[in-house]
Amino acid sequence: MKIAVFGTGTVGPTVAAALSARGHDVVIGTRDPEATLARTEPGAMGGPAFPEWHAAHRQIGVATFADAAARSEIVVNATNGGGSLAALAAAGDANLAGKVLIDIANPLDFSQGFPPSLNPVNTDSLGEQLQRAFPEARVVKTLNTMTASVMVDPAGVAGGDHSVFVSGNDAAAKETVKGLLEGLGHRDIIDLGDITTARGAEMILPLWLRVWGALGTGEFNFKVAR
Ligand SMILES: NC(=O)c1ccc[n+]([C@@H]2O[C@H](COP(=O)([O-])OP(=O)(O)OC[C@H]3O[C@@H](n4cnc5c(N)ncnc54)[C@H](OP(=O)(O)O)[C@@H]3O)[C@@H](O)[C@H]2O)c1
Repeated sequence: MKIAVFGTGTVGPTVAAALSARGHDVVIGTRDPEATLARTEPGAMGGPAFPEWHAAHRQIGVATFADAAARSEIVVNATNGGGSLAALAAAGDANLAGKVLIDIANPLDFSQGFPPSLNPVNTDSLGEQLQRAFPEARVVKTLNTMTASVMVDPAGVAGGDHSVFVSGNDAAAKETVKGLLEGLGHRDIIDLGDITTARGAEMILPLWLRVWGALGTGEFNFKVAR
C-alpha cells in the first residue's frame, strides 16, 4: 500500500522502515524536506542524524506533509502531540479525506517539566481532536502505548506475548490497521471501540512513563491477561 508516515523523530523513521521492509511504498512527511535532509544534529537517544538514516533507506521518499498525504492511501501520524493538528492541517483536508489516519501520537505536555501531563485528557483525547478536525479522515488510534522499537518488533519483548489497542469509529479502517499490525508481528490486538476509547489508550502514558523510570528501559509492553 502507499503509506505516508508523518514524523522525523524516533517513531516516524522506525515505522517507515518497518513498513517499507514489508513491501509498502512509504514516504516520510515533514514540514521542510530540504531542512530535514540537511540536519546535522543526532537523532533522539543518540541515533543517526536524519540524512544518515535516509542514506540507508533511499527507497523511502521525503516530502512535505501535503505531498506525502496526496500520494498515499494511508497516513500515519507520528508527529509531536503538540504539533499534530498543525501537521495534519498542513497536509490539507482534501489529502486526508476518506483515508485511514493512524494516530500514534501522545498529547504530552512538558510545560511543567517531567513527568509530562496529558492535554487533552479525561473527557477528550488527541485521537478525538484529530477526528473532529478532519471529519472525513478515518482515524484509528494505535501503537501509542509502547516504545518505537516494540511497535515494529513486538517479538523482541516476551516473544510478542503482549497487547496493542485500536480505537476508531470506522470498522473497515480498523480492519486495515489490524492487517498492518499483524504484518508487524502483533498478535493480541484489542479493539477498544470508537474513537472516544483513545482516551484510555492515551491515559496509559503516565503509567508507561513511570514503568520506564522504574525499569530503566522502554523495551517492555503491557499485556492484558485474561
Ligand atoms: N518515541 C517513542 O518511542 C514513542 C512511543 C509512543 C508514542 N510516541 C509518540 O509519537 C509521536 C512522535 O514521537 P517521536 O519521539 O518520534 O518524535 P517527536 O520529537 O515527538 O516529534 C517529531 C515530529 O513532530 C513534528 N512536529 C513537531 N512540532 C510540530 C509542529 N508545530 N507542526 C508540525 N509538525 C511538528 C516534527 O516535524 P518536522 O519533521 O518538520 O521537524 C517531527 O516530524 C509523539 O506524539 C510521541 O508522543 C512516541
